[in-house]
Amino acid sequence: MAVGVACYAIGHSGLAASTVLLVALVVGVGAGMVIRIQRAVSDLRRQSHSARQTAGQAEKHYIEVLRRIIKVVESRDRYWGGHSRNVGRLSGMIARQLGLSDSRCEQMVLAGELHDIGRLAVPESIILNHSRLGVEDFRCVQAHSAVSHEVLKPLEMLAGILPAIRSHHEKPNGTGYPDALKGDDIPLGAHILAVADAYDAMTHDRPHRQAMSPVMALRELRRCAPAGFAPDCVEALVAALSIPGLEDVHNVAPACELCPA
Ligand SMILES: [Fe+2]
Repeated sequence: MAVGVACYAIGHSGLAASTVLLVALVVGVGAGMVIRIQRAVSDLRRQSHSARQTAGQAEKHYIEVLRRIIKVVESRDRYWGGHSRNVGRLSGMIARQLGLSDSRCEQMVLAGELHDIGRLAVPESIILNHSRLGVEDFRCVQAHSAVSHEVLKPLEMLAGILPAIRSHHEKPNGTGYPDALKGDDIPLGAHILAVADAYDAMTHDRPHRQAMSPVMALRELRRCAPAGFAPDCVEALVAALSIPGLEDVHNVAPACELCPA
């Protein structure tokens, strides 16, 4: 009983050694026993700390492996090279502009880098089919955000960004996927990813169209908000990029496939 009380005091209270010794003496445990218990608890703490560090290191290595896999996935299609890295950089910029904490900004960079890893599950025959996709093929492509979520779910350190990754193709008006979420039900991180993702896609060549200029792309994002994109995230990107020529909001681009109907 007395040993149990002493163990509890050492293990859970965070008290100084002298205090623990005093408590132990009061409850009738010998000083030698207390010192042995203290050493055992310290050893356990050290082991648990190093186990946590090892787990953290392992997750970092795993993420590096995932980054390399994404490079391979992107290399399957000449139009997608560097897309994830760009979305990570842009997401970090938007997050910073929105005033999010340093750690949240870092998480958003990571979310951008990993958001499309689910494209792994899209067959090459569909990825490389640059003509119009059939309904089934389109469904397969749309599944990628939920697949990204599933692939990354086991990594504890990504828990905070998983909802953003799953929902990066949701739209404020409820026409997105995979869950047709609306407005405030969509996590802020997903709104950030969506804007970064669309901007990078618009400013690079795609099989069926040429790249828009940065100014045209930002105007298009403004035009598609608030139904298609969160206006505060669009404005954060506009401010972060600070590209001259955006003053005339009404001089907008023609409708594109990113605008909700
Ligand atoms: Fe995506």
